[in-house]
Parts: sequence; C-alpha cells; structure tokens
Amino acid sequence: ATIHDQKLHRGAGGELHQFAEDGMPVLTTAQGGPVSDDQNTLRVGARGPALIDDFHFREKIFHFDHERIPERVVHARGYGAHGYFETYESMAAYTRADLFQRPGEKTPAFVRFSTVAGSKGSFDLARDVRGFAVKIYTQQGNWDLVGNNIPVFFIQDAIKFPDVIHSVKPEPDKEFPQAQSAHDNFWDFITLTPESMHMIMWVMSDRAIPRSFRFMEGFGVHTFRFVNAADESTFVKFHWKPKLGLQSVAWNEAVKINGADPDFHRRDLWQAIQSGNFPEWELCVQLFDQDFADTFDFDILDPTKIIPEEILPVKPIGRLVLDRMPENFFAETEQVAFMTQNVPPGIDFSNDPLLQGRNFSYLDTQLKRLGGPNFTHLPINAPKCPFHNFQQDGHMAMRNPVGRVNYQPNSWNQGPRESPVQGYRHFPAEEQGPKVRLRPESFADHYSQARQFYISQTPPEQRHIAAALIFELSKVETPVIRERMVSHLMNIDETLASKVGHALGFKSMPKPADAAMPTRQDLEPSPALSIIER
Ligand code: HEM
Repeated sequence: ATIHDQKLHRGAGGELHQFAEDGMPVLTTAQGGPVSDDQNTLRVGARGPALIDDFHFREKIFHFDHERIPERVVHARGYGAHGYFETYESMAAYTRADLFQRPGEKTPAFVRFSTVAGSKGSFDLARDVRGFAVKIYTQQGNWDLVGNNIPVFFIQDAIKFPDVIHSVKPEPDKEFPQAQSAHDNFWDFITLTPESMHMIMWVMSDRAIPRSFRFMEGFGVHTFRFVNAADESTFVKFHWKPKLGLQSVAWNEAVKINGADPDFHRRDLWQAIQSGNFPEWELCVQLFDQDFADTFDFDILDPTKIIPEEILPVKPIGRLVLDRMPENFFAETEQVAFMTQNVPPGIDFSNDPLLQGRNFSYLDTQLKRLGGPNFTHLPINAPKCPFHNFQQDGHMAMRNPVGRVNYQPNSWNQGPRESPVQGYRHFPAEEQGPKVRLRPESFADHYSQARQFYISQTPPEQRHIAAALIFELSKVETPVIRERMVSHLMNIDETLASKVGHALGFKSMPKPADAAMPTRQDLEPSPALSIIER
C-alpha cells in the first residue's frame, strides 16, 4: 500500500515512489530526478538573470524544441483507430497467408485514414483522395494494405509520383493555394497527363468529399497475387466495403463544414467509436487468372483501370471492425509506418509499375520521417508475433541481440535460422525482355473507363461532376489549360464537355485531345478557340 503521509513508498523491487504534498506522484525530469519547482526558472535573485545551472529548465525546453517530426510528404493529415480483422472462411485454396486460414479467427489491426494533399493542419472536407491504410498484425508478420478510397490512380508509373504531388501541393513561390485541385499547376499537369483522366473523373465526383471515413470504400488499387501452399498464384484485387454504405456531402456543405469544423471527420470517427458504434468494412476480393486477364481490353497491371464488378463480382472474405481509439495520437497515428512491401507469405506483388515503385518509396520515407532504421521498435509498428533477427544498433535501438551471437551461420548452435518451408517465397514468375524505358501499348487507352465511370453515375451525381469541373477550372487562370481539359472531356463525354466549355465561356468546343500528348505544350490557346474574356 502507498503511504501518502510518509510521501514515499518503496516498492517490492526496491523502487522509490515519491508523492507530492497532495498525494500525486512527484514530477520528475526525463532522467527521473524529482522536481521541486516547475513554475520559475533558477535566477540570481528574483529579478536577476537566469542561470545555466538550471538543468530542469534546459531539459524541459530542449525536449519541447524537438517535439516535431517531419509531416508525411503526402497524406500528412490523418486519423487512426485500432480494431481487428475477422476471417469469414478459409482461403487456403488461394493463399497460404495464415490470417486467411481459419474461419472466425480475429487478427489485430490499425487503420489510418487521410487526405493526400493538405498539410497536417489542413481541413477534413477538402476535395481530395482519402487514404485508407490498413496494418494487420498477422502471425506471419505485418501486412500493410496501403490503399485509397478511389480504386484507380493518377499515373501509371511511379517515376511520375513526385510530379503529380508537386503539382497538387501549393505552388513553390507562393505557397498557395492550399486547396487541393483548384489551381493552374495541378490542372496543367493533369491535362498534360491523359492517363490521369479516369482518376480525375473520380476526384471530381462526390467520392472526393465523403460524409465521413465510416461511409467510404477502400481499395488496394493494384493487382496483387495470392499464392497458395503449392506455390500457385491467383491475381487478386482488394476492396473494403463499408457496412454503412457510401455517403458523401454536397460541395456547398463541404465548404461550410470546413469553415465551421475543420475536424469534422476526426470528430465523427472519435464519437462513433467512443459511443460504441464501431465502424465496419468487409474485405472483398476479385480473384482471376492470367487467361481471364487476357480477355480484357485493358491491362491488369495498369493502375488507372478497374475490373468492373459486373464482369468480376467481389467476394467478401472477412470483416474489419474499428473499436478502439489510440491513447496517444502521436505515438500511434503519427508514428505508424505503413509500407506496401509489408506482405506475409501467401501475398505477393504484380508487375504494376506503380506498385513496384511504391515498394521502394515507403521504406525510404519512413527512415527519414521516423529518424532512422529502428522505427519497427515503436510499439505501433512492432509485429505482434514472435520475431527474431540479428539486426542491431543504430539510432534509438530498443532491441539488440543478447549474448555472443549476432550472425549466422554460426558454430555456437544458436538461432534464429532461415526456413525455406515456413519463410516468405516470392512467386517465381518468369520474366524476360530487353532493358527498356517504355510504356506498354496495353496501357494506352485513357478514356474508356473515364467514360464508363461518368455514365455509371446518376443524373444528380453527373451534375455534381460538371459543377466540380466548372468550379475548379474557373479558378484556372491560364486559358490554354482550361481548353486542354475540355478537349480531354470531348473524349469522355461530349455533353459534359460542352456543359463545362459553355460555363467557362467557350464559344465553340476544342477538338478532342490527342491521347499521345507531348510533354511540352504551347501556352497559346488554339486559334480555332475563341474564349469570351470575363
Ligand atoms: C503515403 C496510398 C502511390 C509514396 C501514403 C498513404 C496512403 C498511400 C494511404 C498514407 C499512409 C499513412 O496513413 O500513413 C497510396 C496509393 C497509391 C500511392 C493508394 C497508388 C495506388 C504512391 C506512390 C508513391 C507513394 C507511387 C511513390 C513512388 C508515398 C509516401 C507516403 C505515402 C512517400 C508517405 C508515407 C509516410 O510518411 O508514412 N500513400 N500511395 N505513394 N505514399 Fe502513397
């Protein structure tokens, strides 16, 4: 028992518990030293200069000075929650991944939702893609399914990622606008990048202004592989379907909410979970083989394409439930490190050139953001299964090999050892070809799925897309960029193009865009186009 009147208590292990005069534990420095006065610096006389002797002051301020770490270079603003994944049925026929073997088994998970373009302090209801990053702590290591709420992406090759992100972030000289898409640089890049057209239709749709995280779908985007115990591969696309269904806000609501409550989505998730309304998603898969893939007129490696669910229905294989908020935002939501390359045995990559580039980028960025190679020592990133290796040292090492052995093979009969049976085996896909920098022909159609998406929308949703394009493009000051975008829309839907063109003051419609656009463009609008100056 604590002995408050004595203000000290020695625990069973000899540790000294010290209590302040009101019975609260005594404030200490980071070194454990008890503090007598946390209100006044040490000075020569009450009105005199401060003394460098004041180690408590120096430690407190030094620590405060170092509180910030770099925000994520993308997806800086996010909000996370803990939960679990529950398997519906054994998927052993397709994958040896341990988490998919036993019906009813629950595996702990952490999810971080985010916006892409805004800074850490930006508002929740920006028109933007939402990140939907899931870490599942499986018994064969962490699986990170780092997805978005939109099933396609802006670019087909990871080498363009810095460009698309630079164009959407604030312009480098002005450091504005902070609003996501409404500016010349973004629309300049987009209109010079026809492969972005499918994604742009989604971003201009209500999907980009969700009512809350609980009403969003999530997508793994790329084609992945399931690999079973016999080393047979099946292609797989991952989808998260919200139990509550899909809901968005209208643009005028989004604008008002951003002003009234920039934390709208955070508050919604916090309140739902704290009140026991645990949000839930089903993990659904589209499974197919190479023969089936060959029947499509697009490439399943192209991340700007979906496989329509009418052609290949999704199959629910489990559910994700979020039932606990982090105790500390920084320790968990800010320090969590998602990496596409975190896959357990039984899940493998395809040759999607965006995915391949991501598999390099995430480890690299975590090293910078979390300050060194030991970020897996942080509790939120550590596996929740037994793990053993000989990694050692480095900044902030919390775990080091114990004893003499820190290498293998060794003669001291000490593990751990690799296991060709239990260990991760990459699917032995056969690859050959010349070393080239070349976009495949099968990646060339940038408009068909953009059109399919547009015509799949209800009339009010189509009106919202037109209104979003008109609003966004009316903020673009350079006429030729507006013209280029309308010329792309001519390839997607002529009625939409003319609606947008007329609202922007075009007297006639530009010719449909050439999908093979050069990377440099004349800044003069075409002479055929006459624009009413406004
Ligand atoms: C962060 C998704 C493409 C680099 C993220 C996050 C998500 C995400 C959800 C936030 C993770 C979190 O909450 O901590 C996607 C999707 C992509 C995509 C779905 C395409 C399908 C790319 C590409 C690259 C890239 C092509 C680079 C080549 C990054 C980086 C971060 C990030 C550097 C910051 C990670 C961090 O600091 O924690 N991405 N991304 N992403 N992504 Fe991507």
